[in-house]
Amino acid sequence: MDIPFYQQLSQKDFDYIRNIVYKESGIKLSEMKRALVQSRLLRRMRELGIHHYEEYCNFLRDNYDDEIENLINCITTNKTEFFREREHFSILQRIIEQELSHKNISIWSAGCSTGEEAYSIAIVLFESNFNGQFRIIATDIDTKVLQTAKNGKYPIEAVQVLDVSLLKKYFLKGKEQYDGYAKVKDFLKEKISFQYLNLLDESFNLKGKFDIIFCRNVMIYFDKDVQAKVLKKFYDYLPKGGYLFLGYAEAIVSANLPFHYVAHSVYQKR
Ligand SMILES: C[S@@+](CC[C@H](N)C(=O)[O-])C[C@H]1O[C@@H](n2cnc3c(N)ncnc32)[C@H](O)[C@@H]1O
Repeated sequence: MDIPFYQQLSQKDFDYIRNIVYKESGIKLSEMKRALVQSRLLRRMRELGIHHYEEYCNFLRDNYDDEIENLINCITTNKTEFFREREHFSILQRIIEQELSHKNISIWSAGCSTGEEAYSIAIVLFESNFNGQFRIIATDIDTKVLQTAKNGKYPIEAVQVLDVSLLKKYFLKGKEQYDGYAKVKDFLKEKISFQYLNLLDESFNLKGKFDIIFCRNVMIYFDKDVQAKVLKKFYDYLPKGGYLFLGYAEAIVSANLPFHYVAHSVYQKR
């Protein structure tokens, strides 16, 4: 019987993989990420029945157009949760009620992962004193997480951060084979359009402007050059007075754009 043998990821193969990941997604994998890349690639290699990193690199070379999506899906970090960095949702509610309550508004959740951020935004809009219509576009480069987001089905533990009243209003409790899961109700799901979008792609084209853009815990994976390009895109997609929410650990430092600091990692276009 063949015993699977997963050797170490060599410097040459690591460099090959990280150059491709950077070119395709803007995600910068430093030397320190070697163990992480190694374990993430292993998952994909198991699916393919490949036992050597070098063999996987050859497979990728030979099947580039088909395999690149799987490579990006296995490399991205998708950690998220409902009402993550909670203070931002109070700020969002305040902005909606004080400045936008009579408008039709558009919100973009960029790097939405499995959808919890976009659903949390939609819940805030429903719970706010708000008389307009709204649409939310939620995008990610990872096609696997987008599928989870579209399904809107989460383990019950993931939704337990919500108050019981919100849970009852916006989720259905799974039964039989869905026991242990909560499903987003259709009226909430219908407010969000989940789409594939690579922030690095110079030519992506979303319709219209966005009053508010959330791009939290995405740009930490980019280097300064890519961050500056993406920030410029966000700047162009915001109207004057529009808001940009970054992750708690992120800030606009050197993009040379007239963003005004409003609150912890929240900026307004001037
Ligand atoms: C850590 S998650 C953040 C999820 C959510 N915004 C939050 O803060 O909870 C980062 C997400 O950014 C996505 N991402 C990374 N590079 C991207 C790119 N070039 N274009 C679009 N999305 C990207 C990843 O696939 C991942 O789902």
